[in-house]
Amino acid sequence: MKPVLRFDDPSITVAVVGCGGFIGSHLLQAIFEKTCWRVFGVDLESYRIQQHLANPRLEFLCADLADSSVIKRVAAFPVVINLAAICTPSRYMDEAAEVIRSNYDHPARLADACLKSGAWLVHFSTSEIYGKTSAESGLLNEDHTEISFGPVSASRWSYATAKLLTERYIAGLSGLSWTVVRPFNFVGPYMDYMPGVDGEGIPRVLANFSSALVRGEPLALVNGGKAKRSFTSVHDAVEFLFCLFGAAPESCDHQAFNVGNPDNELSIGELAQKMRSIYASIRGVDVSSIPEPREISGEEYYGAGYEDSMRRLPDVSKAERLVNFRARTPLDEVLRESLEWFVSHYS
Ligand SMILES: NC(=O)c1ccc[n+]([C@@H]2O[C@H](COP(=O)([O-])OP(=O)(O)OC[C@H]3O[C@@H](n4cnc5c(N)ncnc54)[C@H](O)[C@@H]3O)[C@@H](O)[C@H]2O)c1
Repeated sequence: MKPVLRFDDPSITVAVVGCGGFIGSHLLQAIFEKTCWRVFGVDLESYRIQQHLANPRLEFLCADLADSSVIKRVAAFPVVINLAAICTPSRYMDEAAEVIRSNYDHPARLADACLKSGAWLVHFSTSEIYGKTSAESGLLNEDHTEISFGPVSASRWSYATAKLLTERYIAGLSGLSWTVVRPFNFVGPYMDYMPGVDGEGIPRVLANFSSALVRGEPLALVNGGKAKRSFTSVHDAVEFLFCLFGAAPESCDHQAFNVGNPDNELSIGELAQKMRSIYASIRGVDVSSIPEPREISGEEYYGAGYEDSMRRLPDVSKAERLVNFRARTPLDEVLRESLEWFVSHYS
């Protein structure tokens, strides 16, 4: 059963796996600002959370969730938030087996350990579990939408398949206290990396476009940039977690929640134009001086076996009804904040 969590209770310690990542770094900041809790944090890396490493309220373990002794230590805490995953699209294509181990094997073993210890598991899944949606797909609902994936030859679906199997595994563990979060394209500062500077391969779209802008290169519109996404401020996403922490157990135990912002829906092509304009305004230059995007096929960009879902629009009524949460940050606001951070960090 989800424990009662008072924000002013200093005896509470929450375990956050993947605390050094994009969402994890924002979550740590918010926990230290808004609560008296302690954090047992695990990650393979810590460069995004340097400012917290000396905080006596954080015990940080640089370790791999694949290690069974790490799983045992994490599950000993009453609240376990699992953010750890390989979650960059280019890796779904090139390293499918590793992606499946990361998104199914490790979280399933963590779920087993939480069942044994009685911990409440908050597991981060993905909006990709809705699969190969079409341009006509309407609102995606947690409990009613039917799901279909592309063929096994299309490696793109390795991540989504593993995430969905983990959800099914968690839901099938009788006696486990769990909540699943399905993020819809969170964006904000600290997302991913700049290729060739502090990471390799192709990052997610925000860092991908930001990197191209800073380098003065055209933004790559995969398959014409026609796919639509609903972008969500990472600050709203963290706010959702606090609604969850404060909610009654019967509102969130054994529930999967979409966390997204349907008001921020646009095509990737429209996102590219918006980011060009915001970047031009940050630099104080005319937008015509920023290169126009270039179109490229998915196969050419990501390799053979690339497929996409054309629209991902979240039904957010469940989060509103059960935990009183609705994302409110307009896209322009979070894009400007993200780009300003990117420019100051990498220039
Ligand atoms: N950001 C989004 O929009 C989004 C969308 C859909 C799903 N998600 C899910 O939310 C979670 C967090 O996403 P994020 O954007 O913060 O990703 P991220 O890559 O920035 O963070 C993940 C962190 O997990 C760590 N990690 C990976 N494997 C590990 C392991 N074996 N042991 C220990 N640490 C490990 C990484 O080092 C990284 O710091 C992931 O599960 C992801 O699939 C995020």
